[in-house]
Amino acid sequence: MGTTPNVLFPWSKEYQVGISFVDIQHKQLVDIINRLYQGMVAGKGRQEVGKALEELILYAKAHFTAEEKVLQSCGFPEFPALHVENERLTYAILEFHQKLMSNQLGLTDSVMGFLKDWLGEHIQNVDTNCIPFLKDNGVM
Ligand SMILES: [Fe+2]
Repeated sequence: MGTTPNVLFPWSKEYQVGISFVDIQHKQLVDIINRLYQGMVAGKGRQEVGKALEELILYAKAHFTAEEKVLQSCGFPEFPALHVENERLTYAILEFHQKLMSNQLGLTDSVMGFLKDWLGEHIQNVDTNCIPFLKDNGVM
């Protein structure tokens, strides 16, 4: 009998970018994903997991908007590409939610793998490109 970790996505220093509003919001996204995972492990049904996913979608949208606002006000030169990437990630999670709710996806670890990859992609790829620019522009 294996042990199931109750934290899917342990917060790690490698995700810390050193700009406080970004780190606080990323940690919040990680917390929502971990709660979602705990709900699944506890055998919560599709409706409840779906609700947690809706919370994640709302929070992610707010987070992307907050980051975009700051980047735009600093004149980030790659803003259009960043915006497209955020739209792609938003679409991916909406599509995922829709598939989950219409029973096209099971409540499995591969589902959680999607969320982990989804957030990891955002934090590591997108933000790694933006953070040096924000720091150069005095955003703390
Ligand atoms: Fe972010």
